[in-house]
Amino acid sequence: MRHLMSPMDFTVQELDTLFDLASSIEKNPAKYAHACDGKILATCFYEPSTRTRLSFESAMLRLGGQVLGFSDASSSSASKGESVSDTIRVISGYADICAMRHPKEGAPMVAAEKSDIPVINAGDGGHHHPTQTLTDLLTIRSLKGHIENFTIGLCGDLKFGRTVHSLIKALVRYPGIRFVFISPEELRVPDYITDMLKANDIPYEEVIRLENVMPELDFLYMTRVQRERFFNEEDYVRLKDFYILDTAKMELAKKDMLVLHPLPRVNEISVEVDEDPRAAYFKQAKYGVYVRMALILTLLNITV
Ligand code: CP
Repeated sequence: MRHLMSPMDFTVQELDTLFDLASSIEKNPAKYAHACDGKILATCFYEPSTRTRLSFESAMLRLGGQVLGFSDASSSSASKGESVSDTIRVISGYADICAMRHPKEGAPMVAAEKSDIPVINAGDGGHHHPTQTLTDLLTIRSLKGHIENFTIGLCGDLKFGRTVHSLIKALVRYPGIRFVFISPEELRVPDYITDMLKANDIPYEEVIRLENVMPELDFLYMTRVQRERFFNEEDYVRLKDFYILDTAKMELAKKDMLVLHPLPRVNEISVEVDEDPRAAYFKQAKYGVYVRMALILTLLNITV
């Protein structure tokens, strides 16, 4: 039995196979419409979500399976003090696979250790969000044809942003990747990430002004400043509108640069940018369904 805790749990070769399957599902969904007949996915979300939970549920329903779960810790017995270890032992008897989001780093890993069914980390605190990374990589591959030899700008909250941490870790395994980290001082990418890049001779630079680096980028990965990760409201208010991508900044970018965002967006991308053909974030959210369908099939060892 296999779980997914980190984007590094799959080799690059395994990711290729997963993305081939996701692309096959996108092209021919009818072929997979009954692949999970009789199977049940549990979504155990202790933290809010729209895309991750609903795309997992959509994925299982589109595969012919069924779903159950909770979308809020307060409506589960966590509110009475039940541990994730006890919860997953019980869920193991109710479902065949579980996607879990939790505000505490490592909680899905604790669950996996006690689980009889595959557990997927659907986001744990500021740590990892591996299925978002699978979504991001599939989007890059589908829209550009490959994942190598790109300059990727990551902008916004690089300190607390789990999508950013997971994506960087996954991308370092592809040749020719160069990173540009764009953030205010207070939200710089953590040292453990830059230490890992230095150790692997991966080129990167850290800047504050987005305008200065726009012309270099092949992808711009925007992120939200996350109110829920701040310890005080004053810091959040000071930093929340530090970056706003608008049409004037898009004019500085390459004609084929693509803008990604894990979403939800607050103010960091002006809605006028949505009409720019380089805005790929809503397509990206759709790729999340295909890759989660492929992941469910892979972890349940179902071949079609
Ligand atoms: N990208 C993402 O994780 O979105 P949700 O928080 O809505 O699941």
